[in-house]
Amino acid sequence: MYVFFKKNKRKGRLLMVLTACLLYSCTPTVHRQDKEVEKAIERLVSQMTLEEKIGQMNQISSFNTPGNSWVEDAVKDGRIGSILNEVDPVRVNNLQKIALDSSRLGIPLLIGRDVIHGFKTIFPIPLGLAATFNPRLVEEGARVAAIEATSAGVRWTFSPMLDISRDPRWGRIAEGFGEDTYLTSVMGVAMVKGYQGQDLSHPSAMAACAKHFVGYGAAEGGRDYNSTYLPERLLRNVYLPPFHAAVRAGAMTVMTSFNDNDGIPSTGNRWLTHNILREEWGFSGFVVSDWASVHEMITHGFAAHPAEAARLAVQAGVDMDMMSFAYVSEMEQLVKEGKVSEKTVNKAVKNILRVKFRLGLFENPYVNEELHKETFYAPEHLALAKESALESVVLLSNDGTLPLDAEKINTLLVTGPMADDGYEQLGTWVFDGEENASVTPLAAIQEKLGESSGRKRVRIVYEPGLKYSRDNDNAGIQRAAAAARSADAIIVFVGEESILSGEAHCLADLNLQGGQSRLIQAVKESGKPVITVIVAGRPLTIKKEADLSNALLYSFHPGTMGGPALADLLFGDEVPSGKLPVTFPVTTGQIPIYYNHNSTGRPYQGNETSLENIPVRAGQTSLGNTGFYLDAGAQPLFPFGYGLSYTTFAYTNIRIDKVSYRQHDTITLNFDLTNTGKSAGTEVAQLYVRHKTGSVTRPIKELIFFERIPLESGQTRTITWNMPIQNLAFWNLEMKETVETGQVELWIAGDSASGESVRFEIN
Ligand code: BGC
Repeated sequence: MYVFFKKNKRKGRLLMVLTACLLYSCTPTVHRQDKEVEKAIERLVSQMTLEEKIGQMNQISSFNTPGNSWVEDAVKDGRIGSILNEVDPVRVNNLQKIALDSSRLGIPLLIGRDVIHGFKTIFPIPLGLAATFNPRLVEEGARVAAIEATSAGVRWTFSPMLDISRDPRWGRIAEGFGEDTYLTSVMGVAMVKGYQGQDLSHPSAMAACAKHFVGYGAAEGGRDYNSTYLPERLLRNVYLPPFHAAVRAGAMTVMTSFNDNDGIPSTGNRWLTHNILREEWGFSGFVVSDWASVHEMITHGFAAHPAEAARLAVQAGVDMDMMSFAYVSEMEQLVKEGKVSEKTVNKAVKNILRVKFRLGLFENPYVNEELHKETFYAPEHLALAKESALESVVLLSNDGTLPLDAEKINTLLVTGPMADDGYEQLGTWVFDGEENASVTPLAAIQEKLGESSGRKRVRIVYEPGLKYSRDNDNAGIQRAAAAARSADAIIVFVGEESILSGEAHCLADLNLQGGQSRLIQAVKESGKPVITVIVAGRPLTIKKEADLSNALLYSFHPGTMGGPALADLLFGDEVPSGKLPVTFPVTTGQIPIYYNHNSTGRPYQGNETSLENIPVRAGQTSLGNTGFYLDAGAQPLFPFGYGLSYTTFAYTNIRIDKVSYRQHDTITLNFDLTNTGKSAGTEVAQLYVRHKTGSVTRPIKELIFFERIPLESGQTRTITWNMPIQNLAFWNLEMKETVETGQVELWIAGDSASGESVRFEIN
């Protein structure tokens, strides 16, 4: 078991670092045998007809069905176990009443919805939440989402998405926590805890769903739904751990992914959903397919017809069929023909009923129809959304222009299509949040610098230049360029519309869309300082724009309160502290580019030749060369973990207590962190390791811990971290999770590309 302690020497306190406890050492309640519940399940299942059992395994979407009366009749007949996309509390109550009072056995429905980064109050997209490196905020945000969603009758969310993605072309990179396994695990656990709360049977608790199981983020070419080719060791070392952590944290449900991995669609992969999930990990909740993914096994060419698809899925361990109708249409016959045993069906039904019992739906299936009036957009929810947005923004470059000093500005030009668009700042997967609740950057800047602010009044000129991110309107760009000439400073808000990322919205070209780059160029020609704020769903290739800008802030779609957060950062009322949860490529041709890759036999040594340096008719040679592109080098534009502040930090005196450790030892790390700049600020200190040798090659660096550390200007703190050597285990040549002996390098730094290493031995 991993236990990770932090000793605060100055105060002499021993604090347990929650993230590691949540990840590894807490026993989830879901694993405790609740005998009463199991007895009740047995009793109920013994009374159910085969048709009723299959009904429980069927999930339908309320807006993709023939009509209300069809749904009501199906609920009455026990042909539906779960409904997704029903968010009207009155209707939810009506349907529950039918299920309870008019169906034969009175089994409540489970109402599900994609509540991905907030319900009404929208938080930054998950990629932005990951940039906070703040699991406390993520947990609290998920709690807010649960409070709002459950007040509409939703007791199950299809979140968190735990897909590791090393490819920003993939639109769904927005929905996950980036490229790193440890960060994704920590954030996933925080979300599970937040959604499910302390007591799953409380009306404000919402069952979490760890998705998409598994490998979906490695879709070939970054094209959604595409095949993946992940060998078992890579799955176990990189893609599975966040799911395992979520299961340990008590996630009640798991969703299979759309992709086939090495030829096997996840929805029909018994090794994954049975051997690993149930047998190795002891998962006791239920597995749901992704939307129509049972049926899609036919399109994959893995099943010949719906009956075969249904058989493969249920035998693999998929308990609930989301929107394929394959279970309701085929399962009865399959059982009658002996192709699927009733025992298999019973197991699936029990898993589903267990979740319904644990959610307390049998005792209290109804929602208070008035409650949402208090919960939606509650002031404390908006405050938390703003705090999350603040910490999610990453300062990528700054020549000292930021923070802006309002006292020195008479005229400020605000331009760009993302400056005043309440809808586009919300990001992907927003079904319930409303654009008119958003506070845009323009509105927030006007408020901050307006009459009521008590500050010196600044003349704010708003000239959008472009109406939306793909707009190419030259006349608009010219108007912005003209306004720039009489401004003292220019803030350009560019980026991506919400619909350009998310499911099925992949891109081959990650440059800024439309005329946005020209807009930056045009205002830059005024010679005035240009601050670029990019509001987007993924890393974009922004080298040119970074070079043109005096300062560059990156805001993954920040949600409802994105405007006030950005305004506070721009004018120095807050200090940026976000760090990149994903590597930013210089150009799409470098993808996949990620920090934790293995070492080649000829690793890059900073010795790249460029196209221009190669003599014409040069002779063939490979000697002395390493892995890089002649036209794009080997380095990303910005590395994983990177992010600036308005102050600076120095790491000194990095030391460990011994030079060699045994496998069951704990290593004590100390370092001094000093705020060497003029303002207070928070640094995300990151701990990376590398096994110099192993029975299999290991990544050149891997994040294994981080902590947000606030410091006043000039302040130094000595930080102590205690790390069990067991944390360094990996799946080795024998496919066993083992701590191997040998030399290890360790870095404590502000990003994945800097810092001096310290070495030790494991023996
Ligand atoms: C997505 C899932 C989502 C489901 C239900 C699918 O298309 O892949 O992530 O939860 O739809 O809306």
